[in-house]
Amino acid sequence: MIGVFDSGSGGLSVLKEIIRLLPDEQYVYFADNAFCPYGEKTAAEIRSRAHVITDRLLAEGAGIIVVACNTATAAAIADLRESYPDIPFIGMEPAVKPAAIGTRTGVIGVLATAGTLKGSKYLNTKGKYEDDVKIVEHVGQGFVELVEACDLDSPKAEEIVRESVTPLLAECADTIVLGCTHYPFLAPVIQRIAGDDVTVIDPAPAVARQTVNVMQQRGLLPAPLPEPAGTKEAPKVKLLSSGASANLERLFQTLLIH
Ligand code: DGL
Repeated sequence: MIGVFDSGSGGLSVLKEIIRLLPDEQYVYFADNAFCPYGEKTAAEIRSRAHVITDRLLAEGAGIIVVACNTATAAAIADLRESYPDIPFIGMEPAVKPAAIGTRTGVIGVLATAGTLKGSKYLNTKGKYEDDVKIVEHVGQGFVELVEACDLDSPKAEEIVRESVTPLLAECADTIVLGCTHYPFLAPVIQRIAGDDVTVIDPAPAVARQTVNVMQQRGLLPAPLPEPAGTKEAPKVKLLSSGASANLERLFQTLLIH
């Protein structure tokens, strides 16, 4: 069983990509929505939540845990790996590398939470590429709240998204990295505002591939993968949350349809 968690519903964008590769697996997803957003919380607070959630996912039977949250990855993954040495943890990677390779203007934009942007993981990655490309950052102010409210394409959502995307376009960014797992839910609005010439990168497919690789290395999956059973059954996902779950269910269903 694969355990996945996030501060809220954002990690469903990662879960979806893992399900695409492993449709026959069983999943347990924990949305920490009573403590959402993580973006402005201290690293110590997030680490403490990550431990509580990990214990819960392990109790549910998870054999691997995907930290489907850039902010929690930045704050807690090193600590989790140390505290649970037998459990593989997969974290989010800011997709600066593919953006740096693909940019034509030499300017890439990164949208993420404040916690992610000041984390050492992001700063190290950025350090590798900033001699070659200009990296412009912006916090997606209000994005997490929109997604948690399931408001993905209203005039209000468009206005809020425009506020954070416009400064990146003003600097001539032609590639925008989504550095928070909530943001892919707003990707259609981001793309509409940015225009067709701008590439929007979601790291979730790469994280899903990494999940498969690590499971194969640990003997949790055969290599190569067998053909999926091809049943039309809905994926087996248990949804858990620390707060209200109505919007979580709604977003999950929305994702499955798209
Ligand atoms: N989805 C999360 C991330 O990837 C957390 C957003 C938040 O709770 O602020 O960073």
